Amino acid sequence: MSFLRTYSRAAFSLSKIAKKPLSSHQVISSKQQVFSVTNTTSNLRFYAARPKKLKERIEELIPERLEEIKYVKKEHGPKSMGTTTVDMAYGGMRGIKGLVWDGSVLDPKEGIKFRELTIEECREKLPKVENGSEPLPEGLFWLLVTGEIPTKEQVSALSAEWAARSAIPSFVEELIDRCPNTLHPMSQFSIAVTALQHESSFAKEYQKGLDKKDYWNYVYEDSMDLISKLPNVVGRIYRNVYKDGKVPAIDTGKDYSYNLAKVLGFESNENFVELLRLYLTIHSDHEGGNVSAHTTKLVGSALSDPYLAFSAALNGLAGPLHGLANQEVVRWIIKMKDTIGESPDDKTVREYVQNTLKEGKVIPGYGHAVLRITDPRYDAQRDFALKHLPDYPLFKIVSQLFTIVPDELQKQGKVSNPWPNVDAHSGTLLQYYGLVEQNYYTVLFGVSRALGVLAQLIWDRALGFPIERPKSYSTSLIKKMFENEENK
Ligand SMILES: CC(C)(COP(=O)(O)OP(=O)(O)OC[C@H]1O[C@@H](n2cnc3c(N)ncnc32)[C@H](O)[C@@H]1OP(=O)(O)O)[C@@H](O)C(=O)NCCC(=O)NCCS
Repeated sequence: MSFLRTYSRAAFSLSKIAKKPLSSHQVISSKQQVFSVTNTTSNLRFYAARPKKLKERIEELIPERLEEIKYVKKEHGPKSMGTTTVDMAYGGMRGIKGLVWDGSVLDPKEGIKFRELTIEECREKLPKVENGSEPLPEGLFWLLVTGEIPTKEQVSALSAEWAARSAIPSFVEELIDRCPNTLHPMSQFSIAVTALQHESSFAKEYQKGLDKKDYWNYVYEDSMDLISKLPNVVGRIYRNVYKDGKVPAIDTGKDYSYNLAKVLGFESNENFVELLRLYLTIHSDHEGGNVSAHTTKLVGSALSDPYLAFSAALNGLAGPLHGLANQEVVRWIIKMKDTIGESPDDKTVREYVQNTLKEGKVIPGYGHAVLRITDPRYDAQRDFALKHLPDYPLFKIVSQLFTIVPDELQKQGKVSNPWPNVDAHSGTLLQYYGLVEQNYYTVLFGVSRALGVLAQLIWDRALGFPIERPKSYSTSLIKKMFENEENK
């Protein structure tokens, strides 16, 4: 057993005995390596040591995580995490605590934390390209999977590995080429990912007869392949639907976001590439209960491979109340500009918002099932806009809406969260750089979401999580359940 594994177990047992976490940045040294660790309750460590490959690191972490879960189940297994009410059952299961998701947690008042780090902390601490100011999504993936901040070398190795795995089979290219341009890019995306299932090493090995302990190994390989192949898939869809169908080659010396920008034809604009780095980082994960995350987890729990699980998630992301909202926002704002002019005053914008609500429609980009504050992902994009495009007219309208919509939604008296979410901003930034095809926006969201949901899928199989099977009741049984009780 390696020193690290020994250390990990020791650290976990130590904190367990002391009933308090190890202090932040505590340094433990050995002949071989020096580590600086944070609070063990967070599983977050900053370390600078002999560079490890991601897979090696996961392998080292698995025994520690298994032991941790064994401990949590032993100590707390029968305890209740909360009650389930009839309202929750009819209300989209809102608030029911029934999933384990380690990459991120969403607090209604604080927003998202990726393994204990806020978006601002990720922007500050994750590795960047030289002279860049936005984090590389490769680093975020590493953080989501391991709970650790990678070194620049580790991130570069991941960029190189993803570029090396990026080729897609010719039959998938042909399949995409045969899709009519009128088929929504998200449907094309889902079809292509399902077809890539042909490459699944998990599915092949499972057919041969796979030991449970090895599931994660092949889910890891599939997840890495799938993430790597996404630029070639989505680049082809973009080029076919909106351009001449020719997709430039991936540059194996460049990072993932550069290559995504390249297949779309925007790599020469360094600020756009920076935007993609930020975009791919912040859209990646939003705890486990949202439609795309939970779908991946659910479908994966049937031991469907990562391609099948992720294509199912894409179909959920394509819904207007989930990922499609970013296309809806830009469409709504452009329609507003066409109706009330380029630089409308506040009163006219307010009337437009009121009319949308009177028509029984939602204001896209506002509201959230969990958050009760402005989405920190909105704030991060606003910060980017203030730095790079402060005078862009569409950004000014987005800012104007920020001062008007929450007030109008609050007046409705039923909206749980009147504040903007991630989708209220993203399309405007893409418009500014010339990526104006609104139907394509959710595809970029999908590329990013792959990082979060596949990171968790690897762990679901490494930790042996079972097939999901919550209990459902019929309305008549619910009535009987309580009416019988009341009649007693
Ligand atoms: C995100 C969303 C689906 C959350 O749904 P939710 O958890 O059920 O939200 P709420 O509890 O606030 O819903 C209560 C009521 O307010 C309404 N509401 C919520 N957000 C609203 C909005 N942006 N505009 C108008 N009405 C809204 C709901 O439609 C619901 O109305 P109903 O009772 O007549 O059915 C919802 O806010 C929404 O539809 N937003 C617009 C779409 C969007 O931006 N989606 C991206 C989310 S990241």
